[in-house]
Amino acid sequence: MDIRLMKPSDIPHVQQANITNLPENYFCKYYLYHALTWPQLSYVAVDVSRPPKTPYDPPKIVGYVLAKMEEEPADFVPHGHITSLSVMRTHRRLGLAEKLMRQSQRAMAETYQAAYVSLHVRVSNVAALHLYRDTLGFKVDKVEAKYYADGEDAYSMRMDLTDMQ
Ligand code: ACO
Repeated sequence: MDIRLMKPSDIPHVQQANITNLPENYFCKYYLYHALTWPQLSYVAVDVSRPPKTPYDPPKIVGYVLAKMEEEPADFVPHGHITSLSVMRTHRRLGLAEKLMRQSQRAMAETYQAAYVSLHVRVSNVAALHLYRDTLGFKVDKVEAKYYADGEDAYSMRMDLTDMQ
């Protein structure tokens, strides 16, 4: 498995993975906005076990992290934000999400001097909560009531990055 920066040409495949794995979906132009504005922060996991049959074979994208810098931080502290993360069911529990997150967090700190990284996650999302809290070390900052379109609450989480700057 290859973890590399997301390119604009990956976007249709990333969008397909997002639609398959999550109910929070975005227009193509929002992905492009991330890729063009913060080209160092979003990564894809590509299955390279099957070589392309032709030069036009699309990459087999099995995971992605879509990330940005917060543009007008309310606390005036430069920080990153994870817009979306997912890994295809067939490729879960291989450490891909952890690797994608760590790459993005490192780039936030090194390229943009991000002091911390934030994200939202459904309170019922056991797998993602384990990843963020137990594996990566995020802390719950607050609960945002009815954050999601279906009325579910979100944990607003953050992780300090000052020791990576
Ligand atoms: N149950 C419990 N803990 C889990 C699970 C699970 N099903 N999956 C991952 N974890 C935790 C474990 O602590 C694991 O460490 P371990 O394997 O050493 O025990 C750790 O996360 C790292 O696991 P990875 O293999 O890196 O995670 P994976 O590549 O499987 O991806 C993810 C995890 C992204 C949550 C995946 O299950 C997924 O795509 N789910 C659907 C989409 C989703 O919920 N995305 C997050 C939404 S929030 C947001 O986008 C900001």
